[in-house]
Amino acid sequence: MPKHILIFDSGIGGLSVYKDIKYQLPLAKYIYAFDNAAFPYGELTESVLIERTTHIISKLCSKFPIDIVVIACNTASTVVLPSLRDKLDIPVVGVVPAIKPAALVSNKIGLLATPATVKRSYTYDLIKSFAPISDVQLLGSTRLVEMAEEKMIGIDVDITELKEILSPWQNKVDTIVLGCTHFPFLKNEIKKALGNKILLIDSGEAIARRVKQLLNENGNGDGVESAVLFEGEVFCSAPSIKEEALNHTFKELNFSSLQCLGYPKF
Ligand code: DGL
Repeated sequence: MPKHILIFDSGIGGLSVYKDIKYQLPLAKYIYAFDNAAFPYGELTESVLIERTTHIISKLCSKFPIDIVVIACNTASTVVLPSLRDKLDIPVVGVVPAIKPAALVSNKIGLLATPATVKRSYTYDLIKSFAPISDVQLLGSTRLVEMAEEKMIGIDVDITELKEILSPWQNKVDTIVLGCTHFPFLKNEIKKALGNKILLIDSGEAIARRVKQLLNENGNGDGVESAVLFEGEVFCSAPSIKEEALNHTFKELNFSSLQCLGYPKF
């Protein structure tokens, strides 16, 4: 039986993490779930985040023999991990902004995240612990999250608009922590806006290593013995007007068509 890995985000951002995990564990069975009904998560309160992630993840854990849950969303990870870990008896891995590796290479760091993540005490504690002597500038933007969603369904990113959003950082930072899982999809455009020399750091590879380690620790390899590539399954919380385009995106990543869980926002 392949290992079942559940990856969760508000939208398509978690696919950046999926790509890294899939590279390390190609033979696992992937279940991807996204809460499009409540997107964007960067605008929600902490209690709503906890309620929604718990509901969706519990539902999928009762449907599939999930071995590990990956909260592939920085915004949710900063608040939902303790309650999810209390509720589930399988490992739950979260994503946090890669401040630590950034502080090893720079002291002019920009943290690019959602408006919620840049406000959280979790983020301030990370900076205090791992980058105490660096200058860390914070920028929270929901528009960037939307731009990444648009790009994934074939809409070009407007570089002038992106430049405008990132303008406070022109010549001020040399390293950017991509503290939202949507942003790795905008790497090329961010480089176009701020110049090629800028170093962009995300957490995907570290999360993938952690997932692999936890599955091995639990006596579960990557299912090499089965040598079968399983088609992933993908769930959204509400019907999407972008269904056709999303199906195309997911199909290219070896997922079947979108299935709807029917969990509206309010
Ligand atoms: N992908 C998410 C994150 O990593 C959330 C984006 C949003 O829905 O605002 O923070």
